[in-house]
Amino acid sequence: MNITFEKDLQAKGYIDEPIDPTLDIVAEINRLKKEKNAVILAHYYQESEIQDIADYIGDSLGLSQQAAKTDAEMIVFAGVHFMAETAKILSPSKKVLLPDLKAGCSLSDSCPPHLFAKFKEQYPDHLVITYVNCTAELKALSDIVCTSSNAVQIVQSLPEDQKIIFGPDKNLGEYVKKKTGRDLVLWNGACMVHEIFSQDRILDLRNQFPNAKFIAHPECEDHILAQADYVGSTSGMLKYTIEDPAQQFIVATESGILHQMQKSSPNKMFIPAPPNNVCACNDCPHMKLNTLEKLYNCLYYEQPEVDLAADVIQSARKPIERMLEISERFGL
Ligand code: 13P
Ligand code: SF4
Repeated sequence: MNITFEKDLQAKGYIDEPIDPTLDIVAEINRLKKEKNAVILAHYYQESEIQDIADYIGDSLGLSQQAAKTDAEMIVFAGVHFMAETAKILSPSKKVLLPDLKAGCSLSDSCPPHLFAKFKEQYPDHLVITYVNCTAELKALSDIVCTSSNAVQIVQSLPEDQKIIFGPDKNLGEYVKKKTGRDLVLWNGACMVHEIFSQDRILDLRNQFPNAKFIAHPECEDHILAQADYVGSTSGMLKYTIEDPAQQFIVATESGILHQMQKSSPNKMFIPAPPNNVCACNDCPHMKLNTLEKLYNCLYYEQPEVDLAADVIQSARKPIERMLEISERFGL
C-alpha cells in the first residue's frame, strides 16, 4: 500500500479508490469472495443490496455464532465496529474487515470502559453482564456477554441470589428486569435509533390499521414496549412476522429489517413505526455508512482491517464464549 493510500484510509476510515463504472460490482464481489476464501456476514440493518450479496444475514447472536464457526480465511463484516470486533475475538487468526471503520454505535459510545470500570467498583459482589453492543474493552471487564436474543435466558441461568450489573442498554435492562423479576443494577445507556419512536404516532397508525400487529425491539423505551404484541430481537421479529397470521405489521426497529420481512412474506404489509421527529425513516446512521462500493473496495484491497491487542482478545473472549455456551444450552 502506498503512503497516500494509507493516509487516506486513516482519515476517512474507508477506501474510496475510484471503481470502474462499467464493473459489475455484484459479480466482482462474488468472484473475489471465492478467490480469497472470504465470507460476508451482514446484519439485518444493512442496505438491501448488501443483505442480498451476504453469505449469512442475521442478528447479533447469529452473526457471532457464524463468526465462531466459519472456516473461511477472511470475514468481511457488513455491520458496525463492535460486531467486527466480536468476530475478531472469536476468530483471532482470521482477517476481519469492516467496509467503513467509522461505522460505530451510539449505544456502545454511551459506555466508555474507564467510566464503567469505576461504576463496577461500586458493586464488588455483582456479576457483570454486558450487551454485545459495546467495545471489546468493555467486554473484557464483563463476566458474560448477551444479545437481545438471549439476555433473558442468560439472567435466568444465574442463581436467584446472584447480584447483577447490566449494561450498557438501560431499555433492554428494564425489559430483562420485567421478564425475569430480577433486580439488576443498570448502566444508563441507550441506542439513538430505538429511543426516538413516538407513542402518539404509533397509536395513530394503529387506529389507521386496526388489524396490524405492533412489534418492537427491546432496545425501545418501556412505554413503547408496553404497547407491543411482540417484543424480540431482529431475528425474533422476522420469525414472528413469518409465523403470525396477521397481514400487516408496524415495526419498531431499524428499517433495514423490513427488506427480509418483505422478502419472506411478499404479500404482507410492513410499516416502519414513526419516530418522534420529522424524518420519516428509522435508519441507523452507523449501519448505513457501509455501501456496496465500500464493500467491494474492502474485499479488493483487504482493508480496513479490524485488529485488537492480544490481551483484550483473551479477556473479552471468555464472556462471549460463556454467552455462546448458555445460548446452546437453551437451544438458541
Ligand atoms: P439484534 O441484532 O440483537 O437484534 O440487535 C439489534 C441492534 O441494535 C444491533 O445493533
Ligand atoms: Fe448501535 Fe442502535 Fe445502530 Fe444498533 S441501531 S448499531 S444499537 S446505534
